[in-house]
Amino acid sequence: METKILSGKKVANFLKSNLKEKISELKNDGIVPGLAVILVGDNPASKIYVNSKTNACSKLGIFSKTLIYSDDTSEKKILEVIDGLNNDKTIDGILVQMPLPSHIDESKIINRILPKKDVDGFHPINVGKLVIGEDAFVSCTPAGIIEILKYYKISTEGKHVVIVGRSNIVGKPMLNLLYQKSEFGNATVTICHSRTKNLEEITKLADILIVATGRAEMITADMVKNGVVIVDVGINRIEDSTKKKGYRLVGDVDFEGVKEKASAITPVPGGVGPMTITMLMMNTYKSSLRKK
Ligand code: GUN
Repeated sequence: METKILSGKKVANFLKSNLKEKISELKNDGIVPGLAVILVGDNPASKIYVNSKTNACSKLGIFSKTLIYSDDTSEKKILEVIDGLNNDKTIDGILVQMPLPSHIDESKIINRILPKKDVDGFHPINVGKLVIGEDAFVSCTPAGIIEILKYYKISTEGKHVVIVGRSNIVGKPMLNLLYQKSEFGNATVTICHSRTKNLEEITKLADILIVATGRAEMITADMVKNGVVIVDVGINRIEDSTKKKGYRLVGDVDFEGVKEKASAITPVPGGVGPMTITMLMMNTYKSSLRKK
């Protein structure tokens, strides 16, 4: 059986080219979407993410503002910055890059962002709306996974989807999208995590398996059934002396091993990763439509 490679990169390019057109049409109404990105500290991975976000903005015609603060910036200061952005008419979306230094309470920060500018979908109001099936900003990675399934016409209706990982950013919103009464919902969903017993017995039942644990190649071929569709959210660096950089990127799934059994699978890199930023751009555009 031929395994279909689900290229998030391809889906992201497709969505971004449509989005670019829509953003340029908005100019006729005098509207330019605006995104503010706040980075506290100098976590190297966060810096890379923040740069990619601002690059994506400039390619699509979204105005962006990057605000960088040192590691020892007070929580009070960041809250004041958010208040300013909440009142700034040029800004439609506010994103605070996570993780934050330990002296800053993440939940306090998230709660301060106006829900209508919370393009990350982290505010409890947006999370609650998602749960009850109301229109809301949805966390970008799970929203992007739904777009990959849509693009490749992989129906979720009546399917058993198993999610491994229960984070607020991926696992929980993914669960809440998949059981909704909607075209790419209507699934039966099981959520597994680090305390799940007999994980492999559950993952073997999956028609669609979504893995977001941050544990390199933890899902192996003996844990999945033939014909499964696999979505791998992980991006892990593992040492590899044959590479110039000394490492290579792998997912949470042993790609080469499971490929023989899967009917379709997202690669790492080039799978889920490119979708996250694309959905952030789409959320910022959606937020700017309020100004119409
Ligand atoms: N850190 C890792 N992923 C994300 C994300 O989607 N949004 C924010 N703000 N921080 C992150």
